[in-house]
Amino acid sequence: MSKTIFITGTSSGLGKLTAKHFAQQGWNVAATMRSPEKETELTQYPNIRIFKLDVTNLEQVKTATEQAIATFGKIDVVVNNAGMGTYGALELAKEENIDWQFAVNTRGPINIIRAFLPHFRQNNGGMFINISSFMGITTAVPLGSLYNMSKFALEGLTEGLYYELKPLNIHLRLIEQGGSKGNNFVDSVVWNQNDDIIAYNELTNKLKNLMGGRDESMLDDPMIIVNAIDDLATGKSNKFRTVLGDMGNMLMNMRSSMPIEEYLEKMAKLF
Ligand SMILES: NC(=O)c1ccc[n+]([C@@H]2O[C@H](COP(=O)([O-])OP(=O)(O)OC[C@H]3O[C@@H](n4cnc5c(N)ncnc54)[C@H](OP(=O)(O)O)[C@@H]3O)[C@@H](O)[C@H]2O)c1
Repeated sequence: MSKTIFITGTSSGLGKLTAKHFAQQGWNVAATMRSPEKETELTQYPNIRIFKLDVTNLEQVKTATEQAIATFGKIDVVVNNAGMGTYGALELAKEENIDWQFAVNTRGPINIIRAFLPHFRQNNGGMFINISSFMGITTAVPLGSLYNMSKFALEGLTEGLYYELKPLNIHLRLIEQGGSKGNNFVDSVVWNQNDDIIAYNELTNKLKNLMGGRDESMLDDPMIIVNAIDDLATGKSNKFRTVLGDMGNMLMNMRSSMPIEEYLEKMAKLF
């Protein structure tokens, strides 16, 4: 019998690619997105069903998870992929952007995990794969504290849950991806700026240039990430954390090889 994977944020980037890959591998796919009416590609696959889901909306979480379970009978793997970034100085951040960053990247996975736990308990097992970032385990750029906060929190949530879900045969996995090709992440970044306060302008311009003029050759092939998700979902890998890409691995190695004070100074000097 085919296995079933439930994925959040499948309208673009990694989520969409993962949905297509698993469908091509013969899995049933519950592909969720905020605006299913706009989708034209995933609708072509007979084994993909699309459900409307904004991960911050508890009503939609309830409906989408119930509908997916009713449609496929059993969900084997859940991928918490939906995410966005708000960048800029914390002092300048709009209140709603602070809350939204946490709501999507951290509270969203909490909502999804809580919605699936009764189902996984009933099935005596299941797997959550949480899409984090190297920005969830180390810092790398200025003005990213809110994004760091949301992904560090996702890491803490996932690690902390390990102990209570292990006895229930419910597996937790983290993917630490770096920048990859073919997604809308950078274009969707919500910037916090205020023309009256210029103290952060220099850093903001440097970061915008870095993100806007990013060298494609430095970005990872997203299929590397999809294949890592496949390895976890099929049990070929049982790594708790999978760090992907040259950039992420380089930063992680740097971070673990020196005292935090030295790391912070080294990174700050780059800006
Ligand atoms: N790209 C990178 O450089 C990078 C690096 C490290 C980690 N990541 C992480 O990788 C994951 C996938 O991102 P991506 O690179 O594929 O970027 P992406 O193309 O922007 O995809 C993000 C997806 O999340 C969805 N989303 C945003 N807010 C949502 C909400 N409230 N409810 C449901 N879905 C929502 C978006 O849907 P809409 O179309 O409706 O907005 C979109 O489908 C994210 O968790 C991101 O934080 C990305």
